[in-house]
Amino acid sequence: MTKIVAIANQKGGVAKTSSTIAIASLISRGKTCLTIDLDPQGNCTDGLGVRDISDDQFTAYNLLDLRQDPNAIVLSTQWGIDLTPADIGLAQKEVELIAAPDSHYILKEQLRKLSQYDYIFIDCPPSLGRLTYSALTAADFVLIPVQCQYFSAKGYKQLLSTIQAVQMRSNSDLQILGVLPTMSDNTNISKGALVSLSKVEGVDVFHSVPRSIKFTESQLAGIPIDRYIQENHSTKERDDLTEKLIEPYQRIVDRLLSLEVAYA
Ligand SMILES: Nc1ncnc2c1ncn2[C@@H]1O[C@H](COP(=O)(O)OP(=O)(O)OP(=O)(O)O)[C@@H](O)[C@H]1O
Ligand SMILES: [Mg+2]
Repeated sequence: MTKIVAIANQKGGVAKTSSTIAIASLISRGKTCLTIDLDPQGNCTDGLGVRDISDDQFTAYNLLDLRQDPNAIVLSTQWGIDLTPADIGLAQKEVELIAAPDSHYILKEQLRKLSQYDYIFIDCPPSLGRLTYSALTAADFVLIPVQCQYFSAKGYKQLLSTIQAVQMRSNSDLQILGVLPTMSDNTNISKGALVSLSKVEGVDVFHSVPRSIKFTESQLAGIPIDRYIQENHSTKERDDLTEKLIEPYQRIVDRLLSLEVAYA
């Protein structure tokens, strides 16, 4: 059965998109996977190397319309990861969804028609609006990237209470996969964030992803980070970078795969 994972945090720039691409790329080596860009900024679309969306290309805007066949909106990328792309037009959909009752179920309904995938990853926008609410309503799991340097306990609480609201109102099956601390370094602020995160009961904290310019480089190149490291570095650099930057994402993939066994 398809497992749907939303990558969400209303705070901007915490590595939602980078994490979505990294995890999708690792999992696509053994599983079929679709990535849905649910952010009008279109960063996930860009980051997977899909740069020019033609005017007649359907996007996540069309996905959120029950009359459309979601299979007709999927693009294949050169990485073996399928993609429902997004562009700025999706911003208008948020407005339309607010005006329609029960519109947060549309995405869930549409994703049922994509049951050929083992995994669907949804890259959420930096807000707690209708798009994120729709993703949480459709998802089996939510992964929460948190940037260590700018960790805000208040913002984190707000996100957890939104997740709780979704669990009570529209998706009782939603589980928090865990929190992923990102852009960690040796500063006291970063270390303090890790301590604060570890104190929240019932939410697993994954190994942190250190700060590295390689993420921005790979995003600009439109190449998933694991493949960017493979293709652009010497063997020694590769081993070092893979251990530091890819290993935390591999742990998340391993967790997802182990849950698959547990559910079987
Ligand atoms: N571990 C990291 N170290 C340093 N920079 C990183 C790291 N992960 C991501 N970045 C960079 O930080 C910036 C923000 O990352 P990203 O776009 O993934 O965040 P986001 O949460 O999706 O942002 P938004 O909320 O705008 O959608 C990007 O330039 C990205 O390349
Ligand atoms: Mg993003």
